[in-house]
Amino acid sequence: SIKILLVLIIGYFLGSLNTSIIVGSIYGTDIRKHGSGNAGMTNTLRTLGKTAAILVIFGDILKGVLSYIIGNIIITAIPDSSTLYISGIGGMVGGIAAIAGHNWPVYFGFKGGKGILTSFSVVMMMDWKLGLILLAVFVVIVAITRFVSLGSILACAAFPIGAAIKGNGTVFILFSAILSILAIARHNGNIKRLLNGTESKIGEKKRA
Ligand code: G3P
Repeated sequence: SIKILLVLIIGYFLGSLNTSIIVGSIYGTDIRKHGSGNAGMTNTLRTLGKTAAILVIFGDILKGVLSYIIGNIIITAIPDSSTLYISGIGGMVGGIAAIAGHNWPVYFGFKGGKGILTSFSVVMMMDWKLGLILLAVFVVIVAITRFVSLGSILACAAFPIGAAIKGNGTVFILFSAILSILAIARHNGNIKRLLNGTESKIGEKKRA
């Protein structure tokens, strides 16, 4: 419907506000020309340090939360949409659109990031308990291996599995699978580097 389209557009334009590119430009640099070349929090930390990375965390989480809330508000406004609202369809559509905007930002030549922080914010809005479990998975993997990418990939893979185990419902599981596949696919380069032993560990520098 027209309202789903509206949610997609708002989410996409909000998500396109890739905070690492914006913060990078404040620091007078294009984050995509440094480190891994990725426009995300990890590469911002790697390239510009902690203060910049914290700003990225706030921005990328905020736009996911806003897109989710706006999506649910707009879809709820459809008269007989009570079932849609309960399953949070509007929020999930808005959230996925924001992640797509982050990854392919309309303002920055469609060259963005991998959407992990924004995905995390959407997961927290969908099911915060499951979100905290996935955060724990991420933290443990990164603490053990020092690979942020591996933590991201495994936490994302655990999302639809966790949702299925929890019995979160078909629509939820469908959206969790979309989110998970989108995030893992964006880590294609990282997966290759992990396999051939050239992926950078957190705290190390690496060329684009
Ligand atoms: O969220 C992105 C992270 O998983 C990997 O980032 O810069 O190491 O490719 P990067």
